[in-house]
Amino acid sequence: MNVREEVMDLVGQIKRQLRNSQEIRLDAPFLSTTSLHYLKEGPQLDVAALGEESCWNSLKELEGFISNCDRCKLGRERKNIVFGEGLADARLVFVGEAPGMDEDVTGKPFVGAAGKLLTDIIKAMGLTRDEVYICNVVKCHPPRNRDPESDEISMCLPFLKAQISLIKPKIICTLGRISAQSLVDKDFKITRDRGGWRYFMGIPLMPTYHPAYLLRYSQAKRHVWEDMQEIMPKLGLKDPRRLKDQNRN
Ligand code: URA
Repeated sequence: MNVREEVMDLVGQIKRQLRNSQEIRLDAPFLSTTSLHYLKEGPQLDVAALGEESCWNSLKELEGFISNCDRCKLGRERKNIVFGEGLADARLVFVGEAPGMDEDVTGKPFVGAAGKLLTDIIKAMGLTRDEVYICNVVKCHPPRNRDPESDEISMCLPFLKAQISLIKPKIICTLGRISAQSLVDKDFKITRDRGGWRYFMGIPLMPTYHPAYLLRYSQAKRHVWEDMQEIMPKLGLKDPRRLKDQNRN
């Protein structure tokens, strides 16, 4: 156990003891404001304050830290935490909104119908799923596939930030409205604002439609392809259609 794990373990033990004890008042004077907040609300982990880069040594360590997470109400009903998967130092990170039912069962991101379409998009770019990193803003499946709520997003966002700090991608691509609103701007309108470069944690970010939307409105596929064509040259990837044209001339 390293020092941070020991501290977190200790805090966990104190939290359990205090919860079990009706006699100890949570506003006891020996507790700092941060500790009180942790004990009452669960750890609203301020990754920035802890030093995003130095806080965890690896994605594995971070994944271990949030296993069994019960910091928000999604923890009660989920089957598996869907942490994310892919290359630990991927140049491109895709961020969806929240795991669906298939993802909840398997513990892996984007494995359902929308995931298959995302895999096709990645292949069309000249990459494989193993060469990128795929994750979500919220790591647990919201019941009945509802949108994640703002308290759930704010509780989980520090972990996405920590993932990004560890991966250090060249480009982030958000999929759908919720992830763009969470990472870019709460007033982000996907039909109006997709396809324009933004930044998250200083990293260029391309917001595009969610693949689930493309399953319903296939006309939007061409817009997603336009957005991928914005990303590809920044990663040194050639558009295969343009390559074909060049060979013909
Ligand atoms: N939709 C998402 O936003 N994320 C997943 O992992 C699956 C479906």
